[in-house]
Amino acid sequence: MSILLTGGAGYIGSHTAIELLENNDLVVIDDFSNSKPEVLDAIKEITNKEVKFYEGDYSDKGFLEKVFNENEIDAVINFAGFKAVGESVKEPLKYYDNNIGGCIHLLEVMQKHNVKKFIFSSSATVYGKPDVVPITEESKVGGTTNPYGTTKLFIERILEDLYKSDNTWDICILRYFNPVGSHPSGLIGEDPNGIPNNLMPYIVRVAAGQLEQLTVFGNDYNTHDGTGVRDYIHVVDLAKGHVKALEKLNKEDSGLFIYNLGTGTGYSVLDMINAFEKATNKKVNYVIGPRREGDIDECYSDPTKANNELNWKAELTIEDMCRDSWNYIEKKNSK
Ligand code: UD1
Repeated sequence: MSILLTGGAGYIGSHTAIELLENNDLVVIDDFSNSKPEVLDAIKEITNKEVKFYEGDYSDKGFLEKVFNENEIDAVINFAGFKAVGESVKEPLKYYDNNIGGCIHLLEVMQKHNVKKFIFSSSATVYGKPDVVPITEESKVGGTTNPYGTTKLFIERILEDLYKSDNTWDICILRYFNPVGSHPSGLIGEDPNGIPNNLMPYIVRVAAGQLEQLTVFGNDYNTHDGTGVRDYIHVVDLAKGHVKALEKLNKEDSGLFIYNLGTGTGYSVLDMINAFEKATNKKVNYVIGPRREGDIDECYSDPTKANNELNWKAELTIEDMCRDSWNYIEKKNSK
């Protein structure tokens, strides 16, 4: 199959590219707004395979037309999209325009070229503050607390309406929990610009001595040790989930499918610090600080539906996640 990955040089896109290259041809587009060209060299080094690459903005219809005219595309996986929660609060129009507007343009060009297999990177953020955990796909969605989360929710709605209007579309919505870790080669990984917002990249930089200490955002949550509990999933497991989703779209009659991609286990912030120290032998200095606005006590998945229907299960452990996150940064810093 020939698959188009938008945002294919980014953190999740690049890991998925590696898994897909085993059995597919890839066309990757990326504008490097949150990724670097070296990632493409690393993908080649890891897989020994070529990727056809176009540099450009996925929301530019003229650019997309060119890509679709020059390639025989069978399916599209959309990783392109801004994802910084804080920035989305400050610049909501930028997020609505790029994430939602861009996705609509992509779907329009796909429709014109009669390409109707589509996988969308959604997020557990669509569940807002969950009433009960673990979260199943039937749990209530809505109540998102920031524009980034709302873009994910709106795009899901748009995809549902699109499928209702034309059920020859074949759509899979993947709701990611908290992706961490990196490819075991240490050649690609998560490398946010500036000070990281998310827990694992912050821990890694404190351990590397690049940041002084981690602030644990609150220890008075209703959890086993008072700190926030999340479902961290190794990015390689997540990437494999996309391969399985594609298999599902290929073998079933058309449909719109929604899956949680998580491990089903929740770890607290303190659990993560301990696991990281144990896996890497590095110290993580931290202080307990106030809660971060918009954070919730617990968020973890029930991944049974993906286990059963995709024949997919997260296999890598919390130690693997910590070791591989560290390995990437250590390798990068030693260059
Ligand atoms: C965040 C986003 C979510 C997005 C996800 C991507 C918010 C409110 N939510 O989820 O929309 O889909 O990232 O992975 O930002 N923590 C600390 N100190 C830190 C950073 C984090 O204690 O410096 C804690 C948080 O309070 C939370 C846990 O670590 O309990 C995980 O935080 P984070 O990695 O930012 O992910 P989420 O908040 O789950």
